[in-house]
Amino acid sequence: MSEPIHTSVLLKESIDHLNLRAGQTVVDCTLGLGGHSLEILKKIGSKGHLIVFEQDEENLKTAKERLKKFEKQITYIDENFENLKSQISNLKLDSVDAVLMDLGLSSPHVDNAERGFSFKNDGPLDMRFDKRQTLTAEKVVNSYKENDLADIIFKYGEERKSRIIARKIIEERKIKPIKTTAQLAEIIKKTIRTKSKTHPATCVFQALRIYINRELEVLEKTLDDAINLLKPKGRIVVISYHSLEDRIVKQKFKYYTKDCICPKELPLCQCNFQKKLYILTKRPIIPNSIEVAKNPRARSAKMRVAEAI
Ligand SMILES: C[S@@+](CC[C@H](N)C(=O)[O-])C[C@H]1O[C@@H](n2cnc3c(N)ncnc32)[C@H](O)[C@@H]1O
Repeated sequence: MSEPIHTSVLLKESIDHLNLRAGQTVVDCTLGLGGHSLEILKKIGSKGHLIVFEQDEENLKTAKERLKKFEKQITYIDENFENLKSQISNLKLDSVDAVLMDLGLSSPHVDNAERGFSFKNDGPLDMRFDKRQTLTAEKVVNSYKENDLADIIFKYGEERKSRIIARKIIEERKIKPIKTTAQLAEIIKKTIRTKSKTHPATCVFQALRIYINRELEVLEKTLDDAINLLKPKGRIVVISYHSLEDRIVKQKFKYYTKDCICPKELPLCQCNFQKKLYILTKRPIIPNSIEVAKNPRARSAKMRVAEAI
């Protein structure tokens, strides 16, 4: 197999917005193949400290090799970034200067059929970022009840035909277990007609992936922790790739710009909530046409940035 490649999305824009200086402590929650991390390391210099999370062991290995010459400055954490708060405290730190999240899949996930994320390359129905986890897409598709499957497809794929698809999956799995990505994609293709250029299985695959990896739940929790860990003037930059993620980032940032979170009925504030953020991107930053032409996988990216008060 050739060397796995991932082209970092919004690289210049994200690094510029992190507003880094020499000697700072920065967290890259999504190391991937280390493209963003490499640029962060150049900015923070030899006295800087970069803490990285990556739950995919293959990407972690590739990134470690790529960032070898900086290894003394990097703390590698081979865990889900949902453990951000506890891991920062294990390092005896109570705050950081900047946090980056470049969410979702890396190119090797899509290109390597064995990972089971893609219906274009046939592979086992897997979809786990972290292979230590036991729940796979195959288990969900072959053992969940019809209603639960339909709910997952609707909630995380925003697929209006979720009930019809779930019913068809149940029928088909009675005949033969659904074990591969191509098998599942074919079942969905047979079930729903669409005029759109997008493959009819796209939303179902997105839904399963989000569910298996608990992506939205983990994002929501970690945004809280990351924002609360930022030093004054520290920046948080989040690049998301679908509307469900972007909505969470947008709402979470907005929440932390409030002075009060008391119910509207209360005549006086009792919450003592303190505004924590300024939003620096009223609208998300998106890749320009040159970037999208060079890297079509960047087309859905949206970047939001906020600064701690
Ligand atoms: C879009 S890629 C990041 C690419 C990286 N910025 C680069 O330039 O190479 C996202 C990476 O984050 C990892 N990832 C996604 N969710 C994660 C989570 N909750 N915890 C830890 N790693 C995660 C994925 O395995 C993937 O390698």
